[in-house]
Amino acid sequence: MAGRLEGKVAIITGAAQGQGAHEARAFVAEGAKVMLTDVRDEVIDAARELGNSARAMKHDVSDEDQWNAVVAETVAAFGKVDILVNNAGIFAPNPITETTKESYIAHFNVNQLGMFLGMKAVIEPMKANGGGSIVNISSGAGQRGYPDMIAYLSTKWAASGMTKGAARELAPFKIRVNSIHPGLIETPMITGAGGDADFMKEIASTVPLGKIGKTDDVVEPVIYLASDLSGYVTGSQMTMDGGTGL
Ligand SMILES: NC(=O)c1ccc[n+]([C@@H]2O[C@H](COP(=O)([O-])OP(=O)(O)OC[C@H]3O[C@@H](n4cnc5c(N)ncnc54)[C@H](O)[C@@H]3O)[C@@H](O)[C@H]2O)c1
Repeated sequence: MAGRLEGKVAIITGAAQGQGAHEARAFVAEGAKVMLTDVRDEVIDAARELGNSARAMKHDVSDEDQWNAVVAETVAAFGKVDILVNNAGIFAPNPITETTKESYIAHFNVNQLGMFLGMKAVIEPMKANGGGSIVNISSGAGQRGYPDMIAYLSTKWAASGMTKGAARELAPFKIRVNSIHPGLIETPMITGAGGDADFMKEIASTVPLGKIGKTDDVVEPVIYLASDLSGYVTGSQMTMDGGTGL
């Protein structure tokens, strides 16, 4: 049976670990060619494990020249760009009074500016291709209010808003733009931010479905939005949070 992404070419940012790395593996398994990018060196190994269907580039999503290089290299390697998953992100939670201007700007640069630059960079190749799909990884923190994460939360709300605006603007070119809103997902982002076993257990007890999410819980919705299965879906928000936001 043909994969759901057979013949598609995708760029996935933040693909050295966590959700991005898992999405890259799943995309290749579904028949896509994938350019994995990340600021971390580990992205090179992550791509190597996927064989000829994958390439990797070191890439800071807040740098416009680097975005243009990623798009050019993807077209050179695989001939086109059909899909962009804007997944790279940082999360350094703090109360408002303890959030420095530097931390706020750092979140802006990666989570918000990086997403804007990514969408901007793929528009021309997607137009040339007759369309495409952009999947922006926002968060439950881009749909609701949470304490102690003002910098992160503001960028994720921006991701939700940019998705809606871009979906409107790019619909005439058959470029669809949707956002993904995970709840707490077990990745290095959470474990690295002090999410030890006790913390995870405590959070799990507050989730209506009774558990923390896994990268598997996010990858299927991302495949759906990236693929032609969602051909009439644009500007939508897809939430996978075990019911936390109910
Ligand atoms: N884990 C969660 O609970 C959760 C919940 C909601 C949303 N998200 C979002 O999901 C996405 C993936 O997060 P994750 O959980 O896999 O975390 P992660 O920390 O495991 O992965 C994030 C990746 O982004 C990369 N990155 C950071 N700055 C970058 C930059 N300037 N340029 C390129 N790459 C950069 C990191 O090196 C890392 O590999 C993020 O956008 C995150 O905000 C995560």
